[in-house]
Amino acid sequence: MPPLLICHRLLLILLLSVAASHGDSSNDAYDSSMCLDQPYTCGGVKISYPFYLAEETKELKGYDNSYCGYPGLGIVCDGGKPTLQLDGPAKYTITSINGTIPTVSLTDPKVLGGGTDTCPRPIVGGNVTLSQGSWLFFPDSTVDYLVFLIDCSFGSGFPRPSNIDPISCQGFGGGPGLSFVLPDDEVPARNWSHACRQVIQLPVNKNIPVDHTDYRWRNSEYGKLLREGFQLGLNDSVKPQACIRCEQSNGKCGYSQGMDFIDCLCPDGRMHSDNCVKGAALSGSWPFPSHEHMSNPVVPPRAATLHLF
Ligand SMILES: *[C@@H]1O[C@H](CO)[C@@H](O)[C@H](O)[C@H]1NC(C)=O
Ligand SMILES: *[C@@H]1O[C@H](CO)[C@@H](O)[C@H](O)[C@H]1NC(C)=O
Ligand SMILES: *[C@@H]1O[C@H](CO)[C@@H](O)[C@H](O)[C@H]1NC(C)=O
Ligand SMILES: *[C@@H]1O[C@H](CO)[C@@H](O)[C@H](O)[C@H]1NC(C)=O
Repeated sequence: MPPLLICHRLLLILLLSVAASHGDSSNDAYDSSMCLDQPYTCGGVKISYPFYLAEETKELKGYDNSYCGYPGLGIVCDGGKPTLQLDGPAKYTITSINGTIPTVSLTDPKVLGGGTDTCPRPIVGGNVTLSQGSWLFFPDSTVDYLVFLIDCSFGSGFPRPSNIDPISCQGFGGGPGLSFVLPDDEVPARNWSHACRQVIQLPVNKNIPVDHTDYRWRNSEYGKLLREGFQLGLNDSVKPQACIRCEQSNGKCGYSQGMDFIDCLCPDGRMHSDNCVKGAALSGSWPFPSHEHMSNPVVPPRAATLHLF
């Protein structure tokens, strides 16, 4: 056989095997609409991976409502406002995203009852925490906490501390008792749940000075602090090796609702266990990632800004 013909035969076999491998892996296709390949703009905020649209979840390998992004970074575009669901009823509005760093603010009327400047109050019924398993965290370097002691009654069993003064707004607590708002390190140590109907802790910006002894603070100025932004952190050290390798090969990490890494979602519309390069090398059509395409190199924990309204 002339060498050229052998060459052609080899080429044919190669082409057939490529076609076969594509056929075999067709069940590894995923719905690429779940990944934000182009930033999605909501309320002027550009949302992109590792954030994802909470309504763009899809089935991945039998796991319903899986997503293309990191746990806890699902965003709802709610009436033109990008919101982040935290634990409890509090929804945070994202005001900007700087790279993978969100600047977020809690929707004003949802936390400040009445939405006015006088007598601002949190209407969340409990402590504001990040959703369980979220990769976001409140960094000690940027976040402080305000504690609201609401509708407290004192007696001989629980005398009123002399060194703190109540919120001056009448009927703040919705009951006959007094209410207080204090930085968490100024709260006298005791079990306030014995005296108060509600004890609520809210994250706030650490870099805003607070003079809780000033009557203006107790009057309504604490409301300004609630409306200020504060910085969140994104804890990259929870990222599993499979997700790191996936991103280094230009893929995006697919996660289940149970917050387990499912697979690497590659730009060719297929899932490749954890590395887009390996799976695609066979077809020869894969652009090997150049250095600038490695959009998510391993980086230390980053900071993010969260505006709390
Ligand atoms: C975005 O982050 C970079 C690096 O942390 C910072 O220098 C820059 O000021 C930030 N931009 C905005 C608009 O916050
Ligand atoms: C504080 O008091 C509440 C209500 O009486 C009780 O449920 C809770 O266990 C107490 N917490 C501590 C740390 O003693
Ligand atoms: C809420 O925060 C307060 C103040 O730090 C704390 O005493 C209380 O245990 C927290 N409640 C819950 C349910 O975590
Ligand atoms: C980041 O995640 C690691 C691993 O789960 C954990 O040990 C660490 O406490 C987290 N860091 C912060 C600041 O939450």
